Amino acid sequence: MAQYQLGRRRLLQASALAFAAAAAPWIASTASAARLVDEDGYDLWLRYPLVSDADRLEQYRRSLTSIARHGDGPVLANAEAELRRAIEGLTGHTPADVRASKAAIVVGRVQDSAVLRSSVDEDRDFRLREQGFVITSVGARNGRRRIFVIGHTERGVLSGVFHLIRLLQLHTPLSKVSTRQNPAVGLRMMNHWDNRSGSIERGYAGTTIFGWDDLPVISDRHVDYARAMASIGINASVINNVNADADFITSGMLDKLAPLAALFHSWGISLWLSVDYASPLVLTTDDEDPIATADPADPRVRQWWSAKAGEIFSKLDGFGGFLVKANSEGRPGPLDYGRTHAEGANMLAKAVRPHGGKIVWRSFVHEDFSDWAEYQYRTFAPLDGDFDDNVILQTKYGPIDFQVREPVHPLFGRMRRTHQMVELQLTQEYTGHAMHTCYLAPMWREVLSFPTQGPVSGPTVAEILAEGSLRKPCTGIAGVSNFGNDHDWTGYQLGAANTYAFGRMCWDTDTDPRDLAEEWVRMTFGTDAKVTRAVVDILASSRETYEAYSSPLGLGYFTNPGGDHFEPNPRATLFQSHHTTAEGTGFDRTAATGSGFAGQYPKAWQDVYESPDTCPDELLLFMHWVRYDHRLRSGSTVIQHIYDTHFQGVEEAHRFLLAWRALAGRVDGQRHADIEAAFTAQLEHARLWRDVVVGFYFDYSRRVDERRSWFQVALGGRRVLLGGRANLLP
Ligand code: GCU
Repeated sequence: MAQYQLGRRRLLQASALAFAAAAAPWIASTASAARLVDEDGYDLWLRYPLVSDADRLEQYRRSLTSIARHGDGPVLANAEAELRRAIEGLTGHTPADVRASKAAIVVGRVQDSAVLRSSVDEDRDFRLREQGFVITSVGARNGRRRIFVIGHTERGVLSGVFHLIRLLQLHTPLSKVSTRQNPAVGLRMMNHWDNRSGSIERGYAGTTIFGWDDLPVISDRHVDYARAMASIGINASVINNVNADADFITSGMLDKLAPLAALFHSWGISLWLSVDYASPLVLTTDDEDPIATADPADPRVRQWWSAKAGEIFSKLDGFGGFLVKANSEGRPGPLDYGRTHAEGANMLAKAVRPHGGKIVWRSFVHEDFSDWAEYQYRTFAPLDGDFDDNVILQTKYGPIDFQVREPVHPLFGRMRRTHQMVELQLTQEYTGHAMHTCYLAPMWREVLSFPTQGPVSGPTVAEILAEGSLRKPCTGIAGVSNFGNDHDWTGYQLGAANTYAFGRMCWDTDTDPRDLAEEWVRMTFGTDAKVTRAVVDILASSRETYEAYSSPLGLGYFTNPGGDHFEPNPRATLFQSHHTTAEGTGFDRTAATGSGFAGQYPKAWQDVYESPDTCPDELLLFMHWVRYDHRLRSGSTVIQHIYDTHFQGVEEAHRFLLAWRALAGRVDGQRHADIEAAFTAQLEHARLWRDVVVGFYFDYSRRVDERRSWFQVALGGRRVLLGGRANLLP
């Protein structure tokens, strides 16, 4: 890991220098470049530069002259402060603090003010829910506009305020800011995989932002983290790794965490902790009378957890509950004592219930490679209905492990009497770390809109997450965070597009990923239409590009399983994720002749996945083993498709670099150079992917590429491809 970081940084630095030398004269001759102040990405999308459109600036200055707030809680105070900060930045004027009856902008809870109540126009179709909000813009006689931001709860008002700020950042006319919104799901949660040592599991942006050893002192970074999360609607944050260290719930650590929880709470975010299931055993070993078990049926274990839950809830303001990884990848759990996952989860659920807490229990469990995809379903499907009401089952979007393409997990459609959350991954563990631009929102959208019962039979995953179980609503979406202590938070500037889109998509699961990309680009880089178009185009196609040069047709996991999941190595997962031979490739996961995974779906999906003739091409090699000359819908053979996509993917990565270069002078120099360096490094690494995978398939298949010529040589122990007569290598 450390070695990789070093290598990556060196690559980035080298390409940054090369670019600076090549581009400097051109930049110097660009008039607008002088006006763009260098930025390092720290402000993320929360940038409030003076509005560049003169008419809009004039309108904002004329109308946004004062703010009145109803209510005194800390969340509302933060909402007001952020609104002031935004308006000051965007207009250059400081809004006055006045009485509600006069104010240009009034914010608060509907129940706290008659002025606010009278401004909500009655709309029977809209029921303002707990965390929803209404923004109403009304024309006043003097030609100005008045704006009301209203919610039932402080969190609702805060979301409304951030939404208004977003509209102002996007230079929306004030006559068009009226809106009424409820979040799609109740729990919109970040999962940080931050370790007690400060490192981050699968983190590519430095060490933890939480600075455990400096707590209880609250830093600017803590505050800015909370602001950023609140701004995109996140309302829960699990701050430590699912491979949990029991130390996080010791009394000493809880004292350190208390101010962090209070800070989160003041931004409408509940702090959660991942817990080690064996905590009662681990944390009492030095006691006079240690508890030598973590068996959920043992009365001392139950009592220990109840007391611990009491302590945690009393120390941490707004604490949410526990996230648990049990009996997975060597972690302890109820199975160690002959109990089921439901029995294990329910014991913890009872401990937190008196405090209104919840347990999020992960279904990511597996035993060996032969039934990796099937094991989770086999383990959890029989437990549907057995979990307590304050337990939520958190399932990764696909059955393998955050690959660039996986079928949507069959558990979602199966566990209808269990509360469920989907687990997405923002940190790009298998999708290029902090080097490859890979905007994941299009994939998340596919997952959320997947009809669980068959190609045309709902409910979709999003509907299941929004409605909760058939028993009662209790809903959520979780994402493994990509934040770290690097100055730009995500390790490469464009990585924040994933963070932004995640929060916004949790709020509105129907949003178009392209629209979210556009919002993010405009808030991050300004309103230059050329920049917006170019970056949105790159982001929108980046996932397919990554897929093309890494592992098309549902082949996934072409990296070393025990390693960093970054360097291409299809040989390392032979048998685990594909059975490549001289005749063909893929993995037979059919019910008829394979591992049986396709049979875990409802009949209508089984019918689709079970045959290579009906299986969608993009999942073909996930579900089937086929011969190299198998024809895809495009008419191409599988082997030719593998060759073509790898070459095309690299061409696309090259196009990204050129498109970005063409924006020199339109983005500040510092960020332009940073991103240029990242695209240069991505292109290099994409070439490596192409060379390794194409080489691997040629080795096994001995089929010649029909469209281009290249030949293989072994160079310094590494297999590389050299361009042939067509000179197709960019
Ligand atoms: C992956 C990842 C691990 C992580 C695990 C999990 O296997 O590589 O680092 O702990 O997922 O989600 O629990």
